[in-house]
This record gives sequence, structure tokens and C-alpha cells, in this order.
Amino acid sequence: MGAGKSTLGPLLAERLGRPFVSVDAAVEGEAGSTVAELFAERGEDAFRELEERAAWDALSRRILTVVELGGGALGSQATRAALGAHAFTILLETTPEEAWQRVSLPVRPLARDQDEFRTLFAERTPAYELVANGRARDLDGAVLAAAGVHLREGSTDGLADLVPPASAVELVVDATVDVLHGDRVRAALGAWLSASHVVPAGERAKTAAEAARLWSALRLDRDGLVVAVGGGSTCDLAGFVAATHLRGVAWAPVPTTLVGQVDAAIGGKVGIDLREGKNLVGSFHWPARTIVDPELLGTLPAEELDNGRAEIVKTGLLLGEPLWERELAAQVRSAAAFKAAVCLRDPEDRGERAQLNLGHTFAHALEAASGFTLPHGRAVALGLLAALRLSGLDEEAATVQDLLRPEPVTVDRELAWSALERDKKSVSGTVRLVLLDAPGAPRIGVELDPTEVRAALDAMIA
Ligand SMILES: NC(=O)c1ccc[n+]([C@@H]2O[C@H](COP(=O)([O-])OP(=O)(O)OC[C@H]3O[C@@H](n4cnc5c(N)ncnc54)[C@H](O)[C@@H]3O)[C@@H](O)[C@H]2O)c1
Ligand SMILES: [Zn+2]
Repeated sequence: MGAGKSTLGPLLAERLGRPFVSVDAAVEGEAGSTVAELFAERGEDAFRELEERAAWDALSRRILTVVELGGGALGSQATRAALGAHAFTILLETTPEEAWQRVSLPVRPLARDQDEFRTLFAERTPAYELVANGRARDLDGAVLAAAGVHLREGSTDGLADLVPPASAVELVVDATVDVLHGDRVRAALGAWLSASHVVPAGERAKTAAEAARLWSALRLDRDGLVVAVGGGSTCDLAGFVAATHLRGVAWAPVPTTLVGQVDAAIGGKVGIDLREGKNLVGSFHWPARTIVDPELLGTLPAEELDNGRAEIVKTGLLLGEPLWERELAAQVRSAAAFKAAVCLRDPEDRGERAQLNLGHTFAHALEAASGFTLPHGRAVALGLLAALRLSGLDEEAATVQDLLRPEPVTVDRELAWSALERDKKSVSGTVRLVLLDAPGAPRIGVELDPTEVRAALDAMIA
């Protein structure tokens, strides 16, 4: 009561593209009177009965729904069971003082006296803790919780408390990260850890050979957990191996790059590369939990940070907010929440998730033409510039120039163009782009005159 559910609930539903049901409102609709009137006229027991039924109706819906459950509803055993069986439950964290401030204005049946309120708050807290699958204090926090993304402020100590329960844990760690952070991570996982597998640093881990090596080495049963520690490459490989080991075991990435924290370790896409191209084999396997610790970025080389910055600028453009002006930890939080929400709305990449490819059609073409020697961040910076120019957003193009300083690259123009035409986003030969109607208003699947697209690509090549 007073945690802010009725404000946050509808906003969360909107962010996740899901309907919203308030159990109190459903009860009021059913009874034809307000909750306060119900309490006064028919007593709390009558209200709780109606509440239990309305909660069951809301929680057993087949359509994914955001449900706001009143503060006292957990008194019902049936409602607690329904939550356990059907729901991901987010506890909105608040203090008795904050909550009292919210509830003391409009009269609520159980909030007439501050001391009584404190007592009730203390009484109910253990029940909340018991059913909570995640916790949040604001909208981004609720989205992150729903996506299983856990942001840590402190060090890796206590990692064992963050990884979800499992029969055993095996670690897959990037070779470079292992030297820098491996001991700390292993110590934090402690007795849970039954084996540790070091994989080649960076992209060289994303091969069928490395996947096969891990398939043979893993000893986890179906209730085991793979913990991935490294950048997007390690996460993609480890997630793919987790998706396939015994037809799928849980996994929890601990991304150690900025790209990993705001992009690769969120959304459930996992996979490996083939000689024929990047990310050609893979699956969707949502992490049981993603553990984001901005402190791990302290050892990241500047070029790797730049790769992540390009994704943050992309996110800011998609969101229509200058994310890049915030502190790094706040950028990570907002960008991670943005990606999480898009992926929760479109988990299998059949629609609006394509917006995350803003600038990437050009970027991939330039990377391919460079024989994958061009860093992804530099390619994305150029790609964003091209997409913004084609969108007619000159001011935003100038912002990208300022922030990311993209420099035209020396690659073969024909190679780049044929790579762009082959891009997996092109349907029946026509290149489809993500453009912006305005900052915060992406448009996917845009087909433009090929000469215009080619000119935009050419402008990115020295
Ligand atoms: N699955 C997805 O949704 C998704 C999204 C974006 C990118 N990706 C994939 O992610 C990969 C790129 O990942 P990335 O950019 O995170 O880089 P990466 O994993 O390839 O790592 C880059 C380099 O940074 C080093 N490194 C990692 N963490 C470090 C740390 N804390 N300190 C010092 N060095 C560190 C690594 O050893 C490596 O040399 C690509 O293969 C891309 O396809 C996947
Ligand atoms: Zn990218």
C-alpha cells in the first residue's frame, strides 16, 4: 500500500505492450462500489473474498498481463499459490515513510493512522519478500526486474546471492577476463562452482569447435546453471551452449564489456559464427538472470568502451533522450532497460525489435567489406550517421559527429555494397532500413531508392 503501484503499473504495461489489470478496480467493477465503501458496508472479509476471485481471474489469464495486486491480497493462500504458478512478481520497494506520504492524502480503509500503518507495513513485509521474484523502485527498475536483469552497485562479492538457484554451476570465462577478474568471480561463486572453462578472448570464442569442446566438458544436469563471464562473444557462446546442452539448461551472463551490459547479455539471442558469416547458428534462450556490474568495466580498453558508446548513442536516438549526457552507470541502466523492454515486447525478433538495428545495416556492410577488421563501434558510428542523414535529421547527425567522431573508412565500395544488399534484413532483394521519423520515433522496414542508399553508404567510405 502506497508503494506507487497504481501509477507504475499502467506505465509498465505500456512499456511492455501488455494489458493492465488492477485487482482493486476489478473488485470495484464487480461490486459496483468503491473499496472504501465495500470495507465500510460489507467488512474486510467480504472484500478479501472478492479480491481473491479477481486476483485469480487476472493471474490465470492466457494473455501476458501486468497485474496490480493490492497490499493485503497476499493474506490469501490461493492468491500466493496463483502468483507462484502463473506470475513473475515484482516487489515495489518503498519505506513506511514514503508509503505513508502517498496513502495519507486520499482516505484508504487501512491507512487512517500512521502508527497502525507502520505496524501493518512491518507485518506484511515478510509475505512480500517471500513471493517476490524481483524488486524495483521505478519504471526502468521494473522493466529490468521483469527481464531478469540485476544491476549491482558494489563489487563481485556476493555474486553467489545473485545467481539463481541451481543444482550446480559451471563457469565459462573469456581468457583475458579470467586473468583480470577470474579469481574474484570464482571466490564469489564459492562452493556453488563445480567447474570453470576458459574460452578464447573475444570473437574467437564464437566457433562450432569451442561449442563442441564445451558440450563435451559440461557435467551439469538439467537443473544446472552456466554462468558466462566476459563480453558479448563469451555470452553468445556460453548462452548457445546452455541452450543446447541436454536440450537446454539455465544460464546467467555476467557481462564484462559495455556492449555486453547494454546489449549482448540482454534479450536472449545467443549463437556462434560460421566461416560463411557471423551469428549464423544460434537460438533464443533468455538468461535466468543477467548480472550487470559497471565496476567490471574498469579494466576495459578504450576501443572496447567506444564500441559500447556507439550502442548507447543508438539507444539514446531510439529513445529520444540524450542518454550520453548522464554518468556511465546511469547510461548503462537506461540503455539496458530500453533493450530489455523492446525484447520483452518482441522476444523472437518478428517485429519492432528490428529497431535495434538502427545504423547496423550500414555498419555490417562496412565491417564485412573490411574483412571484420573494422571495430563494431566505429562501423556503428558511421552507420548511425548514414541512417540519420537518410532520415533527414541533420541536427542529430551533427550530434553523432560530435559524440562519436566517425571517420570514413577505406574499404572496397563494391564489396560493401554487395554485403549491404545481402544483409539479412533485406527481403526479396530490396534493402530495408531502420530510420527515424524523429528522435524517439523509429520506423522499421523502410525501402528507399537503391541509388539513395548507395550514395549514403559511399559517403561513409574514404
Ligand atoms: N546476442 C546479442 O544480442 C548480441 C548483441 C550485441 C553484440 N553481440 C555479439 O557480441 C560480440 C561482441 O561483444 P563485445 O563487444 O562485448 O566484445 P568481446 O566479447 O568480443 O570482447 C572484446 C575484447 O574485450 C576483452 N574484454 C572483455 N571484458 C573485459 C574487461 N572487463 N576488461 C578487459 N578486457 C575485457 C575480451 O577479452 C576481448 O578481447 C559480437 O560477437 C556480437 O555479435 C551479441
Ligand atoms: Zn551493435
